[in-house]
Amino acid sequence: MQTLPKTARWWVSSLVAIALSGCSFDPVIAERIEKLPPEDPAGPSALHRPGQPCVDCHSAYEGAKPEFAMAGTLYTQNPDLTLKGVPGVFVTIFDSAGGTSKACTNAAGNFFVTKEDLQGVADYAFPLTVQVGSRYMNSLVGRERSCAGCHVLANEERIAQDPSVDKATGQGRSSAGAILISADEIPDSERCGPAPVVTATVTGAGGAAGAGGAAGTGGAGTGGSGGDATSAATTSVSASSTGATSGGGGGAGGAGGAP
Ligand code: HEC
Ligand code: HEC
Repeated sequence: MQTLPKTARWWVSSLVAIALSGCSFDPVIAERIEKLPPEDPAGPSALHRPGQPCVDCHSAYEGAKPEFAMAGTLYTQNPDLTLKGVPGVFVTIFDSAGGTSKACTNAAGNFFVTKEDLQGVADYAFPLTVQVGSRYMNSLVGRERSCAGCHVLANEERIAQDPSVDKATGQGRSSAGAILISADEIPDSERCGPAPVVTATVTGAGGAAGAGGAAGTGGAGTGGSGGDATSAATTSVSASSTGATSGGGGGAGGAGGAP
């Protein structure tokens, strides 16, 4: 028996590491995806699959792009109790390292924070705290990245298994139910997007022009601007440790123009 040369051993062990860190089969997520309703007739878009656990698919595991750090859907209840997505509301996520991200719900009530939106950090530091409007979720989010992983909507199977499930919201022993918010309880500072635009300054208005730099090229900033109801939810993320609640701090400002 020959022992492998050192380089070959390294090669073998890194292959094993890749295999282990790769997208190994996860029966829980696989079953969740399996049970989801079919794709929306209009096909994938920022408005698709409201109420579903977005990050089961938008993850390294399932590979749908973009990859999300967190995503979900906000609802209000119509007078007949059916659910309707709520656009133009900020969802704020506070992580354990003091980072804050704000994302705006789109026309379907969907919001998402992509992994790329987490500027300067690779990922959230769990557990997370969640704010919607002026309400805070009491419990912490330990690792679930889809709001709908816990806020599971009603479906025939759940209702058949558990008669206590609220047929409209899905609330029951195994679910916190749809995330319900009524439009009139949202303070102006937590509204976003084109419809009720207050101002976008809450997400960071972008950097001030650089010193002496009227002609500077900086100033775009990383803060978000107003949302766009039809496309991606506006997201701005501050990875700072100051715990600012107002989203991205804006750019550092231009470097200043040439004299
Ligand atoms: C069953 C899997 C699945 C679920 C659940 C899912 N998506 Fe997708 N999503 C996809 C696929 C597949 C695409 C197409 C892009 C791709 O294949 O990478 C896509 C595309 C998107 C895109 C990009 C659209 C574009 O024009 O480029 C956005 C944004 C998006 N989804 C948001 C969401 C949100 C928000 C949720 C949850 C409310 C969600 N998705 C739930 C599978 C899923
Ligand atoms: C780990 C499970 C879990 C995840 C993930 C989760 N929630 Fe919750 N959420 C709960 C539970 C349980 C409750 C009810 C008790 C409470 O308020 O903590 C709740 C309650 C809430 C409430 C109601 C608070 C109130 O005043 O009635 C809001 C709003 C909310 N969640 C928003 C969200 C949003 C937005 C997300 C995704 C960013 C999310 N939740 C993700 C479990 C979860």
